Amino acid sequence: MAELNIGIILGSTRQGRVSPQVGEWVKSIADKRNDANYEIVDIAEYKLPLFGEVDATQQATAWNTKLASLDGFVFIVQEYNHSITAALKNALDYAREAWNNKAAGIVSYGSVGGARAAEHLRGILGELSVADVRIHPALSLFTDFENGSVFKPADLHLTNVNGMLDQVLAWSGALKTLRP
Ligand SMILES: Cc1cc2nc3c(=O)[nH]c(=O)nc-3n(C[C@H](O)[C@H](O)[C@H](O)COP(=O)(O)O)c2cc1C
Repeated sequence: MAELNIGIILGSTRQGRVSPQVGEWVKSIADKRNDANYEIVDIAEYKLPLFGEVDATQQATAWNTKLASLDGFVFIVQEYNHSITAALKNALDYAREAWNNKAAGIVSYGSVGGARAAEHLRGILGELSVADVRIHPALSLFTDFENGSVFKPADLHLTNVNGMLDQVLAWSGALKTLRP
């Protein structure tokens, strides 16, 4: 079977965001496994306007084409007002079939590990027929970042990231057989 393509989706787009540091860390762990093609997918690059407000056919096509090329996802999720970012919700709303019958893991961060945002995301993923895996690395803004801005993850998260990736790969491979 061909190698699976897994997108590591950065959920925040604000200037000064820390999500690229977290995404690159996950990718560095993933790349060492040599078991799939992992790539960073940065929502900010797609310049998606608020869904439905203006014609965004070009941006929507580019976004859906990228998602369609992926077999599974790792969402880098940050907690904004006890939920996911507006940018991530908007990007989720921009596609349907390109999400369906794929697997996803969640790596979140916030004052309590981004747990509330991660649980909100799980509800949305259910509606999009994305199978979200159980193992969930949850990073603390207080102990895994210096001054909330320089990412210094504790060693203990490594086991969880690999466990999450094991589950994402297993389900991504299984779900691929359901898609045309
Ligand atoms: C609008 C806004 C709301 C936030 N609300 C929460 C929150 O409810 N809970 C929390 O733990 N952190 C909250 N934070 C802190 C963010 O989780 C933290 O700034 C994090 O670094 C944001 O991710 P980013 O740097 O990738 O944008 C909030 C930050 C912003 C900008």
